Amino acid sequence: MVPSLLNRRSFVAGAAAAMFAAHATARAGQPAGSAAGVVAPRNPLVPQRADARIFKHNDGLYYMTASVPEYDRLAIRRAPTLAGLAAAEETVVWRRPASGKLGGYIWAPELHDIDGRWYIYFAAGNSDDPFHIRTYVLRNGGRDALAGPWELMGQFETPWDTFTLDSTLYVHRGRRYACWAQKEPGIDTNSNLYLAPLATPTTLAAPPTRLTVPTLPWEIQGFKVAEGPALIEHRGKLFLTYSASATDARYCLGLLTADAEADIMRADSWTKSPEPVFVTSDVTKVYGPGHNSFTVDEQGRDLLVYHGRDYESIEGDPLFDPNRHTRVQRLYFRPDGTPDFGIPVGNGEVPDRFAPADARTRFVRHHGARLIVGDGPLPSSQFRQKPGLAGTGTVSLEAVDAPGRFVQAQPGGAIVLAANDGSPAFARQVSFERRPGLSDPSGVSFALPGSGGRHLRHAAGGALRAGPVTNQADRASATFLVS
Ligand code: AHR
Repeated sequence: MVPSLLNRRSFVAGAAAAMFAAHATARAGQPAGSAAGVVAPRNPLVPQRADARIFKHNDGLYYMTASVPEYDRLAIRRAPTLAGLAAAEETVVWRRPASGKLGGYIWAPELHDIDGRWYIYFAAGNSDDPFHIRTYVLRNGGRDALAGPWELMGQFETPWDTFTLDSTLYVHRGRRYACWAQKEPGIDTNSNLYLAPLATPTTLAAPPTRLTVPTLPWEIQGFKVAEGPALIEHRGKLFLTYSASATDARYCLGLLTADAEADIMRADSWTKSPEPVFVTSDVTKVYGPGHNSFTVDEQGRDLLVYHGRDYESIEGDPLFDPNRHTRVQRLYFRPDGTPDFGIPVGNGEVPDRFAPADARTRFVRHHGARLIVGDGPLPSSQFRQKPGLAGTGTVSLEAVDAPGRFVQAQPGGAIVLAANDGSPAFARQVSFERRPGLSDPSGVSFALPGSGGRHLRHAAGGALRAGPVTNQADRASATFLVS
């Protein structure tokens, strides 16, 4: 049986809470809501790295593996922070042989700690047939994943000797499972998804269960594909994301859902979402988002890791277009506990959401040009905290789903979302002094420079207005909790 691993949230949240409590006030210059002293990541996090798996290990460090454009090697990045992965040295831990078995394309490695030993699961072709893709397992003879020595344990054994890729491991109720993509004899698809408990790192403890076959229109664009599985548990449900269709702009995420207490080895425990949950966005200029993994930021907040391109049209085979960049964004859950993936947020600062301290379950969002506090689609509540257009020491809030439109404090006190007209007046009206929350220092408040203490405030009726802060109620309405 697998010893109960630290739940990803409990471990990290505990550590982060301790660090955060020590620095209860967000320091000026820090993106609000970030753990003090931690630089927030920007997208793309790592250029030209597809199929990225990022996780925070119980050593407190972030590890990352991914496919490289040359498909010829396995490399690991390690950093104390998520943003640190961007500049972290990439340590090559294995290279494909010049010829023979495993001498073909090398795809989608995943680093896993199994009972204190490091393993890498990856797909490899052969030099005489690079697409003869099977899955193999490397084992580390030491304790340092970047130091090795790495030895080939062998091929990951499944019932069929067919196209096998994108293996991931997941511990559920103390048992370790493998989930992978494979072509099954007799089924006319490129790949389907399978699940089985592990007996050893390369062998199954039971025949695999076929979880999904690509049949829906959005799953079979270009190729009939279900691949790149990733699992996350939340409030008693197990969510399994996967990627579908060709690896161009039609690539997208699908979702399977099971009750976490169900027998997850029963195919009928899983329900497939009829529509994709994460797709190309022409608004934010991210195309073909997919092959995701899940991790947490330094404060223990859930993150979605995925790749995507900055452009839609591709010359030639998308598989050999190198610009699937690694991206991250916060993963949110609806009140009913289901994940809301929203849209791929685009290049630049990772956006935040802001809930007034006097209405903590609702968020600031734009409704057309109006700024309100209330319910609506996730993207309308996501704002990028950018350096202030009026200069140092201020921030400007740009709407993720309306690039170039900023939160503007008009002279009369109305707060609107407006397009940048390039004028100095506009720059002043969209630049705010970010301070620790007036009623809760773990939050943030936005003062209007030179206004004699006026702040952005949640006003009566769910509007947002600029106004003075004279009492505790004002302070609460001028404090925003960041998520
Ligand atoms: O990126 C290489 C392969 O392409 C990955 O293994 C798969 O998820 C994708 O289709």
